Order: sequence, then C-alpha cells, then structure tokens
Amino acid sequence: MNYGQIKGFSVEGNRVQITFENAVGTVSAVTDEIINVFCGLSSESNHSFAIEGDKTKPVNVIANKMKDYLIISTPKLAVYVYDNFKIQFLKSDGTLICRDYTGEREAQGEAVLTQAAIEQARMEGHMMADGIAHHEIEVLKRMEGDEYFYGLGDKYSFLNKKGYEFEMWNSDIPDPHYESMRSLYKSIPFVIVHREKVDYGIFFDNHHRTQFDLGKENSGYYFFSADDGNLDYYLIAGDSIRAVVSGYTYLTGTTPMPQLWTLGYQQCRWSYENRDELLAVAKGMRDNQIPCDVLYCDIDYMDNFKVFTWGEEQYPQHKEMLTDLKKRGFKVVTIIDPGVKKEKGYSIYDQGIENDFFVHATNGDVYENVVWPGDSVFPDFGRRAVRNWWADNQRLMTDDGVAGIWNDMNEPASFRGEIPPDVVFCDEERQTTHAEMHNVYGSLMSKATYEGIKRHTGKRPFVITRACYSGAQKYTTGWTGDNQSHWSHLRYSIAQLCSLGLSGMAFIGTDVGGFGANCTPELLCRWTQVGCFTPLFRNHAAKGTRHQEPWSFDEKTLDICRMYIRLRYRLIPYLYDCFRTAEMTGLPVFRPLVLNFEKDKNTLEINDQFMVGDWLMVAPIVDQGKVSRDVYLPCGCAWYDLHTGERFSGGVRILREAPLDTCPIYVREGAVLPLWPVMNYVGENKVDTLELKVFGGEGEYIHYQDNGEDYAYRDGAYNLYKFTQKHGALSIELVNAGYADRYEGFKISMNGKNFKVKFSGRKLAGLR
Ligand code: GLC
Repeated sequence: MNYGQIKGFSVEGNRVQITFENAVGTVSAVTDEIINVFCGLSSESNHSFAIEGDKTKPVNVIANKMKDYLIISTPKLAVYVYDNFKIQFLKSDGTLICRDYTGEREAQGEAVLTQAAIEQARMEGHMMADGIAHHEIEVLKRMEGDEYFYGLGDKYSFLNKKGYEFEMWNSDIPDPHYESMRSLYKSIPFVIVHREKVDYGIFFDNHHRTQFDLGKENSGYYFFSADDGNLDYYLIAGDSIRAVVSGYTYLTGTTPMPQLWTLGYQQCRWSYENRDELLAVAKGMRDNQIPCDVLYCDIDYMDNFKVFTWGEEQYPQHKEMLTDLKKRGFKVVTIIDPGVKKEKGYSIYDQGIENDFFVHATNGDVYENVVWPGDSVFPDFGRRAVRNWWADNQRLMTDDGVAGIWNDMNEPASFRGEIPPDVVFCDEERQTTHAEMHNVYGSLMSKATYEGIKRHTGKRPFVITRACYSGAQKYTTGWTGDNQSHWSHLRYSIAQLCSLGLSGMAFIGTDVGGFGANCTPELLCRWTQVGCFTPLFRNHAAKGTRHQEPWSFDEKTLDICRMYIRLRYRLIPYLYDCFRTAEMTGLPVFRPLVLNFEKDKNTLEINDQFMVGDWLMVAPIVDQGKVSRDVYLPCGCAWYDLHTGERFSGGVRILREAPLDTCPIYVREGAVLPLWPVMNYVGENKVDTLELKVFGGEGEYIHYQDNGEDYAYRDGAYNLYKFTQKHGALSIELVNAGYADRYEGFKISMNGKNFKVKFSGRKLAGLR
C-alpha cells in the first residue's frame, strides 16, 4: 500500500487524523504509552476481537507539522510521522524506540535454483523456500541490532524469536511440532521487543491471516504483514518487559482468578472409553495416594460424537456417576467440539438448522465438512444469537454436574480439507468469510462457553481451549494441543509456555507426558516435574498410545510422579497468589527469567529454566539420561536450593546433581512461601493454619485468600495478608479483611526453627 505524501492533519482529542495522498490514517494515544496506528483499508473502524470496551484514557496529545514530517506527542512519547505513513517512535527524552525501515524488501541468502533442481528436491519431499511474497499491508521496522523478540503466543520455538518467521493462522497440526514451524493452534499477533535501553511491544490487531518475519528474510529489518483487514497496530512502550506485558493486557484483558480446584492435578486420556474405565482411574488416584482434582471425558463419552449428549451405553447413569465422583473430590470436565453431527432428529442439529445458526457455503446451503461425528456442520459463533444458544447449551452439561468444558478442534479443524476461505461466516450481522473469522473462531466459541457456564453456575468458569486469538485469556485457559511424547517436546514446552504467558495467557499448560507417541517412564517423571509448576497441570495421551497415568509403569515412576504431584498441592496457595497477580497486572504465572531479570544479560536467552511468579525458579532436566545440569542463578538476589536449603549468591552458574527424583528448584532470598498440607483434592481438608516457609533475607509478600469459587471477591470478599521480613524477624499483618473465613494461625519455619502462632487480630510482629 502506498499512502503517498502527507497532505494535512487534524487533532481531535487523543486522535490525530492524517490525510495522505492516497489514504487517511490515524495515530491515537490510548494512554501516555500506548499508541494506535490505523488505516481503514477494509473497514472504517478498528473493530477488535481482542480489545473490549474503550480503553482510551485522557492524554494530552499535541501535534505539530515540521517541514516534512509531523510530530505527535504524549507526555511520554513522541511519534514522528513521515510521507507514506512511515513512523518513528521515541521516548519523550529523545531515546529512539523503533523506526520504520525505508528501503525495499530484499531476501538474504536466497537460493537461486533451476526448475530441475526444485523438482529433484521436491521428489524426496524437501521443502522449498517460498521467496519473497508481498502483502497488501506490510510494516517494516528497521533492525537496530540489539533486539530480542519475545511473545507471539503459541509458537513452538525458542524464547527469543529473532531470525525466524511466523504466520498467524490457527492450525491443527497432529504431526510432531518442530522449531521452525510457522503456526500452531492459536494466533496472538503480539511481539515484545527488548533492546539494551528500551522495551516495547507491537500488537498487530488484525485477525486475518498475518505474517511476522523477525529478521529471517533480512537481518536489516523485521516486519509484520497481512493481505486483508486493516493497518491496525499498537505500539506499547514501557520501561521494562513487565510494563509492556501489563500494557498489552491492559488492552486485551487479564486472566481472571480461577476456581481453586482447577489448580489441582488433572488426568485425561483420549479416551476413558467408559464409565468403568473412568472410575478405575479415580480409584487408582486414591489407592495410590496421588492427589487429583479433575478427570476428563474425551470424545468417546458422547452418543456417536454428538456434542451435548452422553452415550448411555458407555456411560450409563452418568449423572449418578458425576455425583459419586464429586463426593470423592473429582470434578469431571467434558470435551465439546464445534462440529455438530448432521443428523435429523438430533436436537442440537435441528435447532441450529431451524434458527439458521450454521455457516453457509457460497451457494447458500449449510456448509458441511467431516469431523469426528462424520458429516458435520459448524456454528457461526460470530453472531450473538449463536453464542447465546451455545451458552444456553452448556446447561445440558453443567446441570448434570459437569464442572468444566474443554473446547477442542476449534481452529476450526476439518478432515475433508480445510474449510475454503470463501465459506460464509458472520461477524454479528455482517456477512463475511471463513478467511476473516478463522482466527477468532476458537475465541468466540470459548467466550460463549464461558458465558454459559458463568450464567448457569455463578462460579468462575473453567474452559480450556485449543484455538484462540488475542484476548481469549479473559474467558479461557489453553493447552498447547497435540504434542508428542518426545524429549524435544518437553524441552520446547518451556519456551512455548513462557511465550504464551508473555502474550497474556496466564492459565496455560501442555499435555504432560506428551499426547502422541509412547511415553517412557523417565520422560513421564521429568515431564511431571515440569508440569507440577505449569498453571494447567494435565496429563493427557492419545488413543493407541501407551497409558501414562502415574502408575502405568513401575514403582519408581509412580513414587516420583506422586512426589511432584504432591508438591503441586503444597504450592497451591502460592500459585493462587500468582493468579491474583495475573488478574491485577497481566503478569504470567509461568515466566521466562528475563521477565524478572532483564537487566541481567545472562537471562535473555534461557530456554530451559523458568520462574513461577516472582519467587520460585525451576531448572528442570529435559534430556533423556541426564542426571545433572548447569543452573544459572540470576543476579541481584541470593537463592536457596529448595531441596537442600543451601544458599547461593546470584549471578553464578552452578552445577546441580539431579538424579531422576530431583528437579532443581530455587527460591529467591526474602521469600515467604505459603504452603498447604498435601491433600487428596482441593478442599478435602480445611486449612485453618497456613504454613509459611521463610527464606532469610528481607522481603515482603502479599498472600491472598477468598472462597476460591465465585465472584464475591470482586465485591471485596477477600483477605490480604502481608508478610514482611526485616532484620531476621517476620511480621504478619491482615491488610484487607473482606472474607470472613480467616486463618486461625500460622505454622512457620524460619531460621532453622519451626513454630506455630495463633492469629486473631490484625498484626503479629517480631516473630523469629
Ligand atoms: C484432538 C485434541 C486431543 C483430543 C483428540 C480427541 O487431537 O487435540 O487433545 O484428545 O482430539 O478428542
């Protein structure tokens, strides 16, 4: 797109409208540090599927015309706009944030091949480089040289994405994922750029198919592009990566507090084929003393894969079964796919046809493709009426006692080829195409599911999705789809989960043990050691693969899995506090070290260690046969080995022995970790006395407590306890007292001593 020369401009509130020769663009300040750049190439407004409500704050925006450019400033930023809508962003002190690249695209290192050579390589199935593809919308930014690129949601790659290209197109990929894979299930077109002196984010809010090339084509620039939709991106500035993540989640929303039980261990398999099998798994958990809160029913629980039904043959009297499991502390989550079986007489299909709720082929017929139920039709989730219907349908599950809904196959996946781009989908009343709605389909489905569960139960909905677009974190958790029981998949899951966390999705996990292929006992142990720290802790495996419930192998594997699942339950109050931070600030639970220690250059590319909140750092083993590893302890604080209590100064690399039963875990000095006793499931035993493990030094920690279930906390029904360590003494203070059920006391371990204190008032000081 050639915008041409600047012809004029006008300022209206936060918005500066710029008239170019060939188009009209706007530069708007959402806040002092968030700027939207927009040009309505396919629609006039910047209607967003990610940003809900008006986020604009009052900002003092000033625009001045210089000789050949325009300066638009907020109290914190200056935006220089040149002809052809080329832009430079600076901080108000003149520090350059980023500037558009003004040259032409040019592919470095491109292979020049003869047709014969291409055919020869293709014969054996080798992939050919695509060459330069130009796009209608292309924003090229100059590479200053010191960039690190983070985020971009669900990408199977290293933490720093420099030098790679990606595509945003929700894709169902059952084959093994590999490191240069362009797209996976979710599309989150948000990248964080870290430079020596600046941090910023770019959120390209274009839900069509988009591309991000982060210096792959040419190390002199990076770009993002699309062939449809609008030029619509946000420059999110801030003085740290944390501030940028908070800026992005200010726009697109944060992950709300989950119900407490959702933090428990979750066991899944495609499928527990019948009631007896599911009950045997429940029994296995309790018999083997493995804490477990959630069991899943995958597609085979249904009557012929018809969503919102139960197969009486496999799952007779499912209501009684759910009630019985509930009594024993198990919550059951059922899968619901979007594909509705085409079958007259099946109520969901009939209702959808009657109300015209399904998407259409270009000839006006209801569009059909094939998924698990065979010939199927697809709800048009872009329309409110369809979402409301889908939300109402959730009652068919929740009324029977289903505790959460797992939304799968919502890219949408289809077995008879991908849904053609011109199939008619709607965005509310506007008719549009699959090409436009593809990337937001999973988000809209999850939103409908969330709204239904919330309406019917009044509780915080537990929804898990495979596909989504930016902003879905407000409604759903996610998992990373069909990984494999491969060591490389365990290894890469760390950067993948960190990237999702940086991209707003705080409640996220992988299939522990791996979905496809056969898990080994050693892999299951190591994966469980990582999984016990991931926000969503679910073991899942595919049909036809070896079982991977913790007892499926030998005693040693069972013992190790049990040990780490128990550790998970010990950590639940800490994880819950991390979720509180996530809702308040958008900062993820599972994080790369660089989020906490960006000034420490050694953390910029750490792919195999991670932080859980601000206080725990984990350095797992992710390679077969390895029984020791180097661990980097970031500088700026000291660290304690959780297993041995040994103290280390920060800024050092140490060698840690890590036999199969050991996952190296470190706690930052100054921490006061809240811990629960081990229990079979969340809520089995009331925690009147909270355990606090104190790790020397000085520090302050805020612990959050509420009923763990509903929305009363939004009206203030929660307690906040402030734990402060100073000069070797601990004080405990209740700083918010909105929830009646308080702790009666604390069991403290500090300075090598264990003691209990009663807590009835507002403050206890001088504990040592
Ligand atoms: C898809 C999902 C997987 C599920 C299977 C059957 O492959 O990604 O998790 O088990 O479908 O429903």
